[in-house]
Amino acid sequence: SRTYDFFGTHQAGIVTPSQDRLHFAVYDMAAGASPDDLIALLQEWSAAAARMTQGLEVGETGATGGSLLAPPQDTGEAIGLPASGLTITIGFGPSLFTAADGTDRFGLAASKPALLEPLPRFSGDALLPGATGGDLCIQACADDPQVAVHAIRNLSRIAFGRAAIRWSELGFGRTSSTSTTQATARNLFGFKDGTQNVKAEETKAVDEHIWVGSDDGPAWMAGGSYLVARKIRMIIETWDRTQLQEQENVIGRDKGEGAPLSGGTEFTAIDFGAKLATGDPAVPADAHVRLAHPDNNGGARLLRRGYNYVAGNDELGRLDAGLFFISFQRSPEQFITVQRSLSSDALNEYIKHVGSALFAVPPGARAGGWVGETLF
Ligand code: HEM
Repeated sequence: SRTYDFFGTHQAGIVTPSQDRLHFAVYDMAAGASPDDLIALLQEWSAAAARMTQGLEVGETGATGGSLLAPPQDTGEAIGLPASGLTITIGFGPSLFTAADGTDRFGLAASKPALLEPLPRFSGDALLPGATGGDLCIQACADDPQVAVHAIRNLSRIAFGRAAIRWSELGFGRTSSTSTTQATARNLFGFKDGTQNVKAEETKAVDEHIWVGSDDGPAWMAGGSYLVARKIRMIIETWDRTQLQEQENVIGRDKGEGAPLSGGTEFTAIDFGAKLATGDPAVPADAHVRLAHPDNNGGARLLRRGYNYVAGNDELGRLDAGLFFISFQRSPEQFITVQRSLSSDALNEYIKHVGSALFAVPPGARAGGWVGETLF
């Protein structure tokens, strides 16, 4: 079982190879919580995260070593399970800095990154309050769902009285590779997803497109990143009645190999100029990969790290399923640029964006420190 350090220059869970499972939780601070409450919460979250990511129980006495007369420090369901590659990544939403009513609850308004604003409305958005916005986020990823759920459960327990879950999402089946050592996984449309992702091994691209630079401002974000979460419902039943050729044209790649429709194998560069015998472009004008490609977006690239989700079915018997899209980028502008290009995406007939959130992910903490320390 793999183990990742919680401490480091950058938070883990971004360029670390994506795990199989996700529990993503968004919290709102309690009414009346003070700046000291927020600082103590981040300190206690960091201390617990540092232990859990090493496969240890929360607190010195853990689940069973404490007083019989007190609730245990750890909830216990991960006893005996390895760290399972657990990473815990903490982010700050726009409302932590300025509340919806404009109040500066934590004295942070002056430190707010200029671009940390709720994402603009995009065409086709059908956002639900139960999957949108929030003060703080925790992304817990692990190869074992019980380990990811244990992490969120214990961090929520620590937050009791200071912050409470606003919404959360469980994900399975990573939909992206973030390292060249990983085989490309598939999303619920059955296509390989993550072929043209920013990969950890591309260190120059990671510095250029993912980490906030020391001159980008604000200073406390240097070495951090911005996390976009989009809950995207897939209209699975319509997709499943669609011809294979149409499916491939929608994406711009073939379904088996994941090769571009302009030819070659999975990792062959897409030739957007290639034409069919009919004279039509081999990769259609409204194909997802054409519109999302950096060439169509002023060079903007994203590190995608999403997961599939299935939350049972709706009242009409359709699967309530889709992609819980997560991307990391140096600036929210990168996501906004790509998402705006996707307004004419052929994929839009088969998907609906139902949730949206943006978080500033501060840099990693030094050993013994805490995430968010640079902000206070
Ligand atoms: C590429 C599926 C939403 C950005 C791809 C690929 C697939 C795919 C199959 C090709 C393989 C690859 O290169 O990874 C989907 C599905 C979505 C979705 C099913 C919704 C349910 C999004 C969103 C964004 C996005 C919301 C960003 C706003 C990208 C980018 C690429 C890509 C940047 C790489 C394009 C390239 O450089 O060739 N997507 N995607 N996708 N997608 Fe998506």
